[in-house]
Amino acid sequence: EQMPLRLTINGKVQQLSIEPRVTLLDLLREQLHLTGTKKGCDHGQCGACTVHVDGARVNSCLTLAMTTEGCTVTTIEGLTVGDPATTLLHPMQEAFIKHDGFQCGYCTPGQIMSAVACIREGHANTPEEVREYMSGNICRCGAYANIVNAIMDVKK
Ligand code: FES
Repeated sequence: EQMPLRLTINGKVQQLSIEPRVTLLDLLREQLHLTGTKKGCDHGQCGACTVHVDGARVNSCLTLAMTTEGCTVTTIEGLTVGDPATTLLHPMQEAFIKHDGFQCGYCTPGQIMSAVACIREGHANTPEEVREYMSGNICRCGAYANIVNAIMDVKK
């Protein structure tokens, strides 16, 4: 049975009809075709599915879409929406390019969503602090050192 859901995604109000058991991750990817958000483990262990809900980072695979009624969701596709200063790439995206913060790129959208939250929440004062905050975002290519460098660069 479908249930109504109203929320704002990347600055756009969405009036949807969804199965109550669908996760926010599957809603984004399958119903809205926002495939920048990745499915790695689907069990809250890799961080590839990280998005922001009302500004806080969440694993969208662990979030039932119904619980985001009335919320504001931001995905990698909407990181610069509503920010007149950054029309193309967000400064964190620029920094990941500059510092080679990825290899295969699969974990990158989740890494960037966490990285932006890391600075916004004030956990980017030292590389150690950044590593701790980012520890839920797994990179199988091992780009960790470059990711930390990118975040520290944006922070400064
Ligand atoms: Fe959500 Fe891995 S897909 S944490």
